[in-house]
Amino acid sequence: MAMAFDVLAQPRSSADVDLLLDEVNASPFIGGWSRHELDHHLETESIRFVYEQEALAGVSAWIVFASGGWCELGPFFALDAFRGRGVGKLVIQIAVETNRDSKRSLYGVTKNPIVKAIFARHGLHETALMRLPLPVMTYLVRKMSPERIARNLRKLNADEHAAHFIALQEAHP
Ligand SMILES: CC(C)(COP(=O)(O)OP(=O)(O)OC[C@H]1O[C@@H](n2cnc3c(N)ncnc32)[C@H](O)[C@@H]1OP(=O)(O)O)[C@@H](O)C(=O)NCCC(=O)NCCS
Repeated sequence: MAMAFDVLAQPRSSADVDLLLDEVNASPFIGGWSRHELDHHLETESIRFVYEQEALAGVSAWIVFASGGWCELGPFFALDAFRGRGVGKLVIQIAVETNRDSKRSLYGVTKNPIVKAIFARHGLHETALMRLPLPVMTYLVRKMSPERIARNLRKLNADEHAAHFIALQEAHP
């Protein structure tokens, strides 16, 4: 019988966070995620943990920028043991709906073909890097650091290109 998933603002245990960070940092699709970054999401309430009973199944996070008018969707993650059961769709839906409810425009960047398809279903459209709106460009430039560039270079995957997606919120064109 299919189990229902619970969506929580906090992890049930620190062991869950250890497991999550180990899996995320081994994934070719995510540049890397530090405990410090995850703690920042907890402080700013921009993260949700998806559980099936006691087991952590996935995570959804986002970063608010441009004075709250925009958010970057992600990272998203379905733990290995839960892949292919709808957790990916759920974690993306959580981030999209939470931020649309807060009247934010949405930005996402991913190399993962599954995520690209789900973004498109939520009405985000792919946009060339040089055509991204100014608030997104400014955010991306500010976000760059030597550590982040090195992390991304370590995970370079020639098979898939990073695609940028946006959806404008009407209140913040
Ligand atoms: C991307 C990810 C979150 C998807 O999680 P998931 O729980 O396996 O996905 P779902 O079960 O919700 O499936 C979503 C859709 O993708 C399809 N799908 C899932 N795995 C697939 C695969 N390996 N190949 C092709 N399609 C796949 C599903 O059939 C489903 O499509 P449908 O709605 O038409 O049925 C998960 O693979 C993951 O964590 N990957 C590594 C980290 C990552 O890439 N994160 C995103 C960075 S932005």
